[in-house]
Amino acid sequence: MPSPPAQKPATAVAGTNIALVKYWGKRDAALNLPAAGSLSLTLADFGSETTVSFAPAAAGADGRDRVLFGGEPAEPRFAARAQRFLDLVRDLARIDLPAEVVTRNTVPTAAGLASSAAGFAALALAASRAAGLDLPPTELSALARRGSGSAARSIFGGFVEMSAGTRADGSDAVAQQIADEKSWNIRLCVAITAAGEKAIGSTAAMDATARTSPYYPAWLASVPADLDEARAAVRQRDLDRLGTVAERSATRMHACALAADPHILYWNPATLAALATVRELRARGTEAYFTIDAGPHVKVLCAKTDATAVSAALAATPGVMQTLVLAPGPGARIVSED
Ligand code: PMV
Repeated sequence: MPSPPAQKPATAVAGTNIALVKYWGKRDAALNLPAAGSLSLTLADFGSETTVSFAPAAAGADGRDRVLFGGEPAEPRFAARAQRFLDLVRDLARIDLPAEVVTRNTVPTAAGLASSAAGFAALALAASRAAGLDLPPTELSALARRGSGSAARSIFGGFVEMSAGTRADGSDAVAQQIADEKSWNIRLCVAITAAGEKAIGSTAAMDATARTSPYYPAWLASVPADLDEARAAVRQRDLDRLGTVAERSATRMHACALAADPHILYWNPATLAALATVRELRARGTEAYFTIDAGPHVKVLCAKTDATAVSAALAATPGVMQTLVLAPGPGARIVSED
């Protein structure tokens, strides 16, 4: 394999994204192909910054890629996942140099919200560029998907739709932007309801749900109509319509996981209390709508003008430890190259 002596390092940033129509289930585990589409909002100032350099001297003492997270050597599981991903980039670029990866979250990790979506979107962009590739956004999205399904969406800013695709090679299982981050003044208020890692990772939970939940076929059958509804709501900038479908998609995803055997339950008492707060806000006339991912935190979609009041109501909810107000943000981008 031809291998130039060293390549220029590249640094990329990417924001995390929150799905409003959830991805939950794979049609192919090896290629990380989703069983259904999804629709999300990419967030500003809340993600990952990653620098990658491919060079003969980049390897660690074990001869493998060196992976640093937050200034420290990454824990072995995290490092192994990054190394497997770098193998994909080396195959694409036809190089066989080891890499050094330096990554940090641009969000307090204590928030328990560290997301693989931003991490793999930033890694896909930085690693492909550092390997000498200049991939178009659709190919970057397919590459990021191999790291984490939701990462395919963080390549793009604003509102993004991910296709399940039908091809066996996954080349059509990619995301595309449907409205940019400046097109709608909305906010996502996050209520942190626990510290630390989630109970069960999304890949294992999706697999268990698909194998054992009798509701899984019904869940998959419900997604296309929710996607149509969410897409139309985004086009019309109709918050009530979008929020209604977002709540339904989240509760159906969690109901489907809850019906797995053994059951998968991500919620805690503060999660339920935060849902009650959202219902009370709405009863008092504030347009606020929740979504919940594979964890106990509650994310609330609202107009920018209501964000302070929504965040205050969530902060006053028993068990809520911290709140954050997040704005729509741009897709993954290179911040330095040399
Ligand atoms: O990208 P993954 O494998 O971490 O899965 C993401 C799963 C959810 O966050 C629960 C839903 C979604 O669409 O992001």
